[in-house]
Amino acid sequence: MRVVLVGPPGAGKGTQAQFIASHLSIPKISTGDIFRHNVSTGTELGKQARAYMERGDLVPDEVTIAMVEARLAEDDAQAGFLLDGYPRNLPQAETLRKLLAEWDTRLDIVLELVVDDDEVVRRLSGRRTCRRCGRIWHVLFEPPAREGRCDDCGGELFQRDDDSELTIRHRLEVYAKQTQPLIAFYADEGILLGIDATGPVEEITARAMAALRRFLL
Ligand code: AP5
Repeated sequence: MRVVLVGPPGAGKGTQAQFIASHLSIPKISTGDIFRHNVSTGTELGKQARAYMERGDLVPDEVTIAMVEARLAEDDAQAGFLLDGYPRNLPQAETLRKLLAEWDTRLDIVLELVVDDDEVVRRLSGRRTCRRCGRIWHVLFEPPAREGRCDDCGGELFQRDDDSELTIRHRLEVYAKQTQPLIAFYADEGILLGIDATGPVEEITARAMAALRRFLL
């Protein structure tokens, strides 16, 4: 199955992606995670992406598209994938459609996580991420048992540089201007499915899985 998760920053894409990908036995491919890994390891790609990410702007398409195409060509993505954070604008969506057509395939479904802006700010200002395994936590909504440490692997938790209130507001503007048009784009293709992404994490996962099954049967 080839799935795209779309939604504003803080909608819970990363949180849900880890569970949905595991239920469907497909790899989760997060462009944000790939960029952050490259920034923290100081690669050329990370140097190119860093300033854009810190401001909350999109990394230029020529960098992002090449990176995703290389990742999708890897063996583990041949039978399906879940994209988290890609595509993020119409040129990326058009290029993805062309690439998949060249490979005689297409997206099966685009799952939109729907939440309002106030909830986004609440979620992102309390987000903590594990430096070792990438698991996402929240200081109030999903706190780890031991403050600052991941329950799963014991890794150190950190707060992302782009999670300050000012940058969050800018990321929401970027989403509205550049990413929101994808909703109509995929609705026209007949593969868009929106779900309410408020409530407990497990309930949203169950909602997403039920919607995916209904859509595909
Ligand atoms: P990226 O990492 O993709 O950031 P984003 O889209 O802004 O999304 P987030 O990761 O902030 O939020 P999320 O929806 O994954 O929410 P999460 O699950 O963490 O991108 C970062 C940057 O990289 C971009 O700004 C850009 O510069 C660059 N980039 C990436 N892709 C690009 C592309 N395609 N093109 C160009 N540039 C690109 O949840 C948030 C918090 O809420 C967590 O603490 C979580 O525990 C909590 N939470 C989750 N669900 C719930 C719930 N149901 N109830 C309460 N709390 C919850």
